[in-house]
Amino acid sequence: MPTRVLVVGAGGREHALAWKLARSSSVDEVIAAPGNPGMEDIGECITVDANDANAVAYLADKVDAALVVVGPEEPLVHGVADAVRARGRACFGPSAAAAQLEGSKAFMKDVLVAAGVPTARHAVFQAGQESDAAAFLDTLDGRYVVKTNGLAAGKGVVVTGHRAEAVDAVGSYLSGAAFGDAGRTCVIEERLDGPELSLFALCAGTDALVLGCAQDHKRIGDGDTGPNTGGMGAFAPTPVVTDALVAEVMDRAILPTLDELTRRGAEYHGVLYCGLMLTSNGAKVLEYNVRFGDPECQVLVRRIESDLFAHLHESATGRLLTPVRETDDAALVVVLASERYPASPRTGDPIEGLDAAGARDGVVVFHAGTRRDGDDIVTAGGRVLGISATGRDVHEARAAAYAAIDDISWPGMQFRSDIAEAMMRQASESDGGAIRRGASGASVQTPLGARAAGERGWR
Ligand code: AMP
Ligand code: GLY
Repeated sequence: MPTRVLVVGAGGREHALAWKLARSSSVDEVIAAPGNPGMEDIGECITVDANDANAVAYLADKVDAALVVVGPEEPLVHGVADAVRARGRACFGPSAAAAQLEGSKAFMKDVLVAAGVPTARHAVFQAGQESDAAAFLDTLDGRYVVKTNGLAAGKGVVVTGHRAEAVDAVGSYLSGAAFGDAGRTCVIEERLDGPELSLFALCAGTDALVLGCAQDHKRIGDGDTGPNTGGMGAFAPTPVVTDALVAEVMDRAILPTLDELTRRGAEYHGVLYCGLMLTSNGAKVLEYNVRFGDPECQVLVRRIESDLFAHLHESATGRLLTPVRETDDAALVVVLASERYPASPRTGDPIEGLDAAGARDGVVVFHAGTRRDGDDIVTAGGRVLGISATGRDVHEARAAAYAAIDDISWPGMQFRSDIAEAMMRQASESDGGAIRRGASGASVQTPLGARAAGERGWR
């Protein structure tokens, strides 16, 4: 029996997962549903509505998938993992109940508070509670964050120092004008400061294992300017990650959260993406996502040396036995986006130079928003491609990624030219460039902690 993996989704994250799974000696075939033109080189792409739980479960049966890997959050919130598991198949991704951690920020905050996890002080409001919301804003010392409760494709967060802007956001959310039902309940919270970090934990019930960390760049413009996006570039390793930090996040956030979910009957299987802000008062959880980050996933898969199929299968089915191994090399990804992303991306432009970029040493081009149009591959979304590269350090990976970008073009293509730059600047100011491997004799990111065998929790 060939071992087939069905990857559900169509973006850069799913391309990256399929690319890495296809390299596993335990995997014979990767099938994508619906996939994208980049994934066609890896395996068959089968058209399906990824949010239709029964359709995905039926397809998993039809192709006799040994494992279904669900990439995006929406199918999970729609119960795809439940439907696949109900037919007795292994599925990497949480149940609809556990996926509420991302599907409802109010639920997430409730779990965080119940589990005693450090997070921004907050309150939840519904339509009709505008004046209570305004009163709560006044307790926040001019540092406001307003979030939609439901999924808003990364756009439902306003971070502002202006009360009027915060009040406007509350009004447009609660009335349904801005995000429909996703905004009719909103979360208001205090604004925190500090570097952001994405930590990815593989989870199986109450057990967890750190798969890796990466730093993303959320704003569209260089120097962290302009509106928030889904993420414009990422890199790893990053000097903000230390063993002590990972231990703190696992002990104070991930494990208590898994315990609380289990207590509520929503046992978690899949990856828990912990969005952290490293404040002067310690790490605080900004949010949980119930899937890999995109583009962070494109960096993680370039650094994992252990068997990704084993990791995901173990998380889906029971015990996390395989230790994670990462290369000492760095990885970096730059996202190429369409003109007018994130507001109203223009699509349908033919992309030039894909083959030349992909042929470069250490470079892998992941497709995020592309489609075929005759012989051309054309833009089909806001974030179009992820240009990933590896190197002995972040400098080298970065140079390779940007060199490959020179090969690629389409009208209106935009990207950030400063991925990892702030980190490299800070690193060279604070330690004379120790982020460069060799300068201090070692990679800056230490291996992700180790505990005595048998001790519960993470390894
Ligand atoms: P979220 O979807 O909750 O992660 O929010 C998206 C982005 O908004 C985060 O990556 C942060 O950059 C920013 N953000 C969210 N919550 C806060 C907060 N409490 N303080 C400061 N920035 C925040
Ligand atoms: N890169 C951020 C996210 O995937 O939500």
